[in-house]
Amino acid sequence: MNIIRVADEAQLSEKAAAMIAAQIRKKPDAVLGLATGSTPVGTYQELIRKYEAGKLDFSGVTTFNLDEYVGAGPEDPHGYMYFMRKQLFDHVNIRKEQTNIPDGCCTDAAAECEQYDRRIRAAGGIDLQLLGIGANGHIAFNEPAEQLIYGTHKEQLTASTIAANARFFRDKSEVPTQALSMGIGIIMEAEQILLLGGAGKQRIIEQMLASEITTRLPASLLKLHRAVTIIYIAQ
Ligand code: GLP
Repeated sequence: MNIIRVADEAQLSEKAAAMIAAQIRKKPDAVLGLATGSTPVGTYQELIRKYEAGKLDFSGVTTFNLDEYVGAGPEDPHGYMYFMRKQLFDHVNIRKEQTNIPDGCCTDAAAECEQYDRRIRAAGGIDLQLLGIGANGHIAFNEPAEQLIYGTHKEQLTASTIAANARFFRDKSEVPTQALSMGIGIIMEAEQILLLGGAGKQRIIEQMLASEITTRLPASLLKLHRAVTIIYIAQ
């Protein structure tokens, strides 16, 4: 593992965006795995700046997002496709048909998840997977559990995750309780993984680094991957 400690959010975003930009320059038809949450927002802003400065071309890039709330369609302002458009896609020259996210409004979740994994494989797999981390150690929406699931699947969110997500909603009762999430196996198949720990995540990142590999702390499984970079804010 390549561990980079930074002092603040600006440094985190700058370093993360530099890594993603390097991947796109090396392979203009790169397949990126993307994350939502507040942590990657600054990184997306840096990428937009590079694009606007004429230093980055997204026209060949394909993206697969980690997760989507059950019940959220592409126009839902609380949904993750909407988030991605506002934070990144609407501001760069990515082809919208090359941006992928599980369909939270599908009628058959099992079929949608299976098809999502097939689409990732058909695209040649993920070159660089960007990840945040939940305060409970989850990655994507793979919550701490006795067992973790390999492929994309429907996940029941834990009370602590629902509480953490409530800040984006008017009322706690509106917070989705389920999501479609890439599974741990699919995440681990990425060539390279970049995990970001923003403000408030030092404790869980350091706990993960010290931890044994356990499904009770899903991010600890990343220790089995051969090309992980962790950038986190350390005080
Ligand atoms: C959600 C997402 C995760 C993300 C996490 C942390 O749970 N499903 O992919 O890593 O939020 O979010 P934040 O960056 O806002 O702390």
